[in-house]
Amino acid sequence: MQQSLMENSKLITTSNPDSPIAEAYRSLRTNIQFSSIDVPVKTLMVTSCQSGDGKTTTIANLAVAFSQEGKRVLLVDADLRRPTLHTVFMLSNQTGLTNVLANQMDWEDAVHSTSVDNLFFIGSGPTPPNPSEMLGSKKMNQLIEELSAHYDMILFDAPPSLVVTDGLVLASKCDGVVAVISVGMTKRQQAKKLYASLEHVKAKLLGVVLNNKKKKSKDQLYYTYYGTNRRM
Ligand SMILES: Nc1ncnc2c1ncn2[C@@H]1O[C@H](COP(=O)(O)OP(=O)(O)O)[C@@H](O)[C@H]1O
Ligand SMILES: [Mg+2]
Repeated sequence: MQQSLMENSKLITTSNPDSPIAEAYRSLRTNIQFSSIDVPVKTLMVTSCQSGDGKTTTIANLAVAFSQEGKRVLLVDADLRRPTLHTVFMLSNQTGLTNVLANQMDWEDAVHSTSVDNLFFIGSGPTPPNPSEMLGSKKMNQLIEELSAHYDMILFDAPPSLVVTDGLVLASKCDGVVAVISVGMTKRQQAKKLYASLEHVKAKLLGVVLNNKKKKSKDQLYYTYYGTNRRM
């Protein structure tokens, strides 16, 4: 593994795999696996109310946790408006999902290897004028189906669901959704609105991650997971 990636503080699952935080991501992985026994979760999306809640950090570390288990994992940046996942893995975002959806390239050519074994990545590609339409397209359904045949898990980063509809459009196509609630930032009313929106599109909320950027101990992050195991 590249030293630079090891030192990337956003990927604690690679930089410090023995830490309690990395362990918390592994428990999140296990909880997701057990949250839906009858229908195995293969496609998973992260969402939250607003920008900065910790979606990208959560889905990146979760993807590493799944790949560390030996699963072949594909991480896709479906935050077409403000893509940042490629920076976490220090990869280019010149081409990606939007090119594939616009039939400009085959998905195989959009896949990057990462420095993490078993973990592959498709960036968002150039920002399109119609992100919701793109994610809601038939082409997106076909793509998810094809990717499902090639990977054990497909994890999507997404934009905040109270701000734009893209995430909700994608949520309805995934086997499960994990919501990130930012402790001290997400208001109760916002959280309620997020749950109602997910329920409206019949998304399966598998759990909620409480993300707290400020912990008493200075070098600790704080993650908690509440499984819900119900279709909202
Ligand atoms: N638990 C955490 N502890 C410390 N920093 C965090 C934590 N979660 C997120 N961050 C930082 O907060 C910023 C926003 O997080 P990010 O995951 O990009 O949020 P989102 O994808 O919801 O916009 C990033 O700089 C990230 O490194
Ligand atoms: Mg993000």
